Amino acid sequence: MDLEKRHIIQISCGLGLTPWLEQELTDLGYALRLTHDTGVEIEGGLNDVMRLNLHLRTANNVMLLIKSFPCRSPQQLYEEVYNFGWEQIVDKNGYISVVSRVDTPSINNTMFANLKVKDAIVDRLLEKTGTRPDSGKERIGLLFHLYWKQDKAWLYLNTSGQKLSDRGYRKMPHSAPMRESLAAAVLLATKYDGSVPLVNPMCGSGTLAIEAALIATHKAPGLLRSRYAFLEMKEYDAALWKSMRTEALNDSRRYAKTHKPRPIVATDRDPKAIQAARKNAQTAGVESWIEFHVCDFADTAIPEEPGIILMNPEYGQRLGQIRALEETYGRIGDFFKQRCGGWKGSIFTGNLDLAKKVGLRTKRRIPFFNADIECRLLEYEMYAGSRKAPPAGG
Ligand SMILES: C[S@@+](CC[C@H](N)C(=O)[O-])C[C@H]1O[C@@H](n2cnc3c(N)ncnc32)[C@H](O)[C@@H]1O
Repeated sequence: MDLEKRHIIQISCGLGLTPWLEQELTDLGYALRLTHDTGVEIEGGLNDVMRLNLHLRTANNVMLLIKSFPCRSPQQLYEEVYNFGWEQIVDKNGYISVVSRVDTPSINNTMFANLKVKDAIVDRLLEKTGTRPDSGKERIGLLFHLYWKQDKAWLYLNTSGQKLSDRGYRKMPHSAPMRESLAAAVLLATKYDGSVPLVNPMCGSGTLAIEAALIATHKAPGLLRSRYAFLEMKEYDAALWKSMRTEALNDSRRYAKTHKPRPIVATDRDPKAIQAARKNAQTAGVESWIEFHVCDFADTAIPEEPGIILMNPEYGQRLGQIRALEETYGRIGDFFKQRCGGWKGSIFTGNLDLAKKVGLRTKRRIPFFNADIECRLLEYEMYAGSRKAPPAGG
């Protein structure tokens, strides 16, 4: 593999997040080669791999295509993998792991495919360097993904290692937190860019508010992490990576100095949720951008300048819960109508029956998935009019 050359880069994302990933890639200046349900393909070099790992908010993994080849048997798989110059990228004292997705009559066991790929890499290194790297299931070194479909196979290097959505700031979990990449996509879907206030009642562990603060301050999410699988590559450009991170950090600092912050307000009725959200925001370095309050959602103080209200209420699983939630969703409708004139209200939910209880006409309904639950981001436009004060005690 010529490390200077352009390669195919496959960027994976959660089901249904492709449109937001496409938007991010286009904004970063990339031409899209191919798009599917859980990812987008582009072309680029190793510098792009680093840039994508640093900047993408909605992606899971950035994967570099090492080679694609005809593959009709486990032996052919071994030979094709062996015939690659692994000594260029795998440190003989490093650590490798392999995962596969296999859909071919030639084999019925992904473990066997993993083993064949691992053996081929290790044998090649032993032959060329006299030493073999360690291997196993942990994602602590170089991670390879094999896709074997019928009689063709693709071998990728997963340059992210751990998913990019694991930003590392959520040290304190709370009930039903959203994945960070989903929260970022939901914010992009509301067209939030930090130029208007954002109010996030029912904030839970604060994922939406924290992702909003990262967007508003132009902070690259990758600055929050120090571990990436590409850092384990033998020939990665450490100086380039350092300068990319410095540039991203300076860009965010410059932006914060020249832009007046618009309020980001996060509330929850559970003090433990607010405690967790505050701590998580601190870990993400955005605590000073978010106002936290413990209160019922309906008592949330709404800033004067109109903006976006974004709520992620529980969807409920048991009947008893759903009855109680019907009332909550009804109250959300009242809150939007009575307190949020001139604002754009959005509800992210996985229960469309409950959403009907809001009782307002939706302006847009954007499909999403939370894991395998079909969800919607429902958008309501509230006309500017008389806004009522919060109830006494709010
Ligand atoms: C599904 S969780 C939100 C998860 C959040 N998006 C995250 O990523 O962590 C719903 C939150 O709504 C809060 N909640 C439920 N009813 C509320 C009410 N009436 N007023 C304020 N908060 C409420 C719960 O305490 C819970 O933290």
